[in-house]
Amino acid sequence: MHNTVVHNDGATLSAEQPTHNSSRHASYPDYASYQDAVQDFLSDSNQFWLSQSQRIQWYRSPEEGVSQDKEGFYRWYADGELNTSYLALDYQIEQGRGAQVAMYYDSPVTDTKSSYTYSQLRDAVATFAGALKAKGVEKGDRVVIYMPMVPEAAVAMLACARIGAIHSVVFGGFAANELAVRIDDAEPKLILSASCGVEVSKVIPYKPLLDSAIEQATHKPDACIILQRPQVAAEMVEGRDFDWYELVNAAEPAAPVALKATDPLYILYTSGTTGKPKGVVRDNGGHAVAMHYSMDVVYGMKPGQVFWAASDVGWVVGHSYIVYAPLIYGCSTIFYEGKPVKTPDAGAFWRVVQDYGVNALFTAPTAFRAIKKEDPDAKLLKDYDVSSLQKLFLAGERLDPPTYLWLQEQTGLPVLDHWWQTETGWAIACNPVGIEQLPTKPGSATKPTPGFLVEILDAEGNACQAGEQGAVAVKLPLPPGCLPTIWRNPERFRAGYLNAFDGYYVSGDGGYIDEDGYLFIMGRTDDVINVAGHRLSTGEMEEIVAAHPAVAECAVFAVNDDLKGQRPMGLVVLKDGVNIVAEELQKELIASVRQQIGAIACFNEAIVVNRLPKTRSGKILRKTLRQIANGEEYQVPSTIDDPAILTEISDAL
Ligand code: COA
Ligand code: AMP
Repeated sequence: MHNTVVHNDGATLSAEQPTHNSSRHASYPDYASYQDAVQDFLSDSNQFWLSQSQRIQWYRSPEEGVSQDKEGFYRWYADGELNTSYLALDYQIEQGRGAQVAMYYDSPVTDTKSSYTYSQLRDAVATFAGALKAKGVEKGDRVVIYMPMVPEAAVAMLACARIGAIHSVVFGGFAANELAVRIDDAEPKLILSASCGVEVSKVIPYKPLLDSAIEQATHKPDACIILQRPQVAAEMVEGRDFDWYELVNAAEPAAPVALKATDPLYILYTSGTTGKPKGVVRDNGGHAVAMHYSMDVVYGMKPGQVFWAASDVGWVVGHSYIVYAPLIYGCSTIFYEGKPVKTPDAGAFWRVVQDYGVNALFTAPTAFRAIKKEDPDAKLLKDYDVSSLQKLFLAGERLDPPTYLWLQEQTGLPVLDHWWQTETGWAIACNPVGIEQLPTKPGSATKPTPGFLVEILDAEGNACQAGEQGAVAVKLPLPPGCLPTIWRNPERFRAGYLNAFDGYYVSGDGGYIDEDGYLFIMGRTDDVINVAGHRLSTGEMEEIVAAHPAVAECAVFAVNDDLKGQRPMGLVVLKDGVNIVAEELQKELIASVRQQIGAIACFNEAIVVNRLPKTRSGKILRKTLRQIANGEEYQVPSTIDDPAILTEISDAL
């Protein structure tokens, strides 16, 4: 148990709670087969999701399934009322889980282990919610959370949810500029942060980054609440910065408030094709239903079991499957502040599985590629008792068949790929093990999750034949839990996702469905890339590279990487008359990207070339560049301005 957790009297906490309408609870359908579930969904999708709404405890049960808001966007359960923090904590305690561990904290980088029971976590959350209120945070206010993988990050998220504030977690690996852009878009009343993060053995002070971000941003928060960690003491700005536990110690616990299902729970920024990230909005009601449904159908979990998503709370996986879903479903979750390797070795994941009796492990393929690289015969696996582990789930990037086969061979467990995005918040395609475990196919995320209608469309919006590659699209309305809009930018939601094909959401991924109905995701069709499971925008990197005074134009694209799946590569054309040593320029460009996006961009290659291949209308042929850099066969595009450039590029790489 973390020694600074505050205990309070549960009776006080529940005093303000609205009365529940529990008459319809727990009578959702239990399907005998995948086909049954799909059939039920296809026969009446609205009724399907209305039935699933009965999985959770509402303050006011919804009578309405899907409806449209004033923008014409689909919304779920518009007449329902609930509180996500209540569902994740108080409700679980009412069900007798008070003494069950809600969250384990395991930090090999600081040599710390602790745990919170549901009662302890509820108390910590209620008290921190009180601290937020005392600092003036009200329903609808935004709170930016820029924190490492410490339990206080989850406490902060759940505390916001408790009082109806909208949190926006920014991944701790992002640089000050990225944080500033998000501050300006979300306009938070408060920012919550910590004095530092720890990357293996490197201590990364967060406070200078936060101070610099606030300086760069136009919007200024009223206050910052800083968690002082023993590794580094943050310098506080008098009158603006407050110590986390000083505020907690002075706070009164706050009760959960009733929120509309459509009230936003959080905003999570994700990379698009431009330098400006998109604020994906998640609502309360659809999200809670989807989280509960997915723990059952997608992950086949039972309440009381231990679910470990080895990711970071700054990504959507962390939101959905480290914090919200496991708690809403009554599982124990794990906050792991470490890496798959080097903390201390490639046995780290197996050690955590053993220590907490993990039943299901979910991570990105990169993590296992890193483990496989250091321990190819999985010798370290034999040092641990991993008999509790029943299933391995992979997502976030393509699960390459060699990694899939290695995992299957070494662990003997079902290795379950599933495909989703920040925008959807949960799996669009999966092996629905909670209903029926389907045979797997290497390279496929299996089949559309019951509740999603996935189609492959050609450029004109016609359905592709089985096996034919096209744009992977989802028929509207998207299921509960998926984004209803982009924060304060409905036009971007339309332009980025809805306008391409009438009645469909376009995922930005290309792929195909085979004759057995299996979905194969083949990669992005836009300028978004995936480096070590981290989603990044090459467009944004191009903007940074192009801003260098020596650069006339540039192209940044993804090349294959054995460990990280992809890595960015930049080709740069110099301005006429510029005299700069290529190595010097490369160093400066790498430093700029690192400084403006962060080290996670992994931008380490910038090659000077004489010209870039373009179409006659001036569009850079990035796909051809990617094929050349990857040593793949390519066809000279018929639209190319001057085919000779391709040979020049080939020679330069
Ligand atoms: N805060 C600050 N810096 C961070 C950071 C964070 N939270 N996360 C990563 N970085 C830094 C790293 O320290 C590294 O810096 P360096 O260039 O100075 O060494 C850089 O960003 C690149 O990080 P990463 O791409 O993660 O490479 P790595 O070599 O440090 O680690 C793996 C490789 C495979 C171990 C790591 O990428 C990993 O654990 N991947 C799992 C994927 C995952 O969890 N994805 C989340 C979505 S599900
Ligand atoms: P993010 O929003 O960061 O989760 O990234 C989502 C993107 O990651 C998707 O659009 C895909 O390009 C990729 N992705 C996620 N899961 C998978 C998967 N199982 N297989 C292939 N690509 C995936």
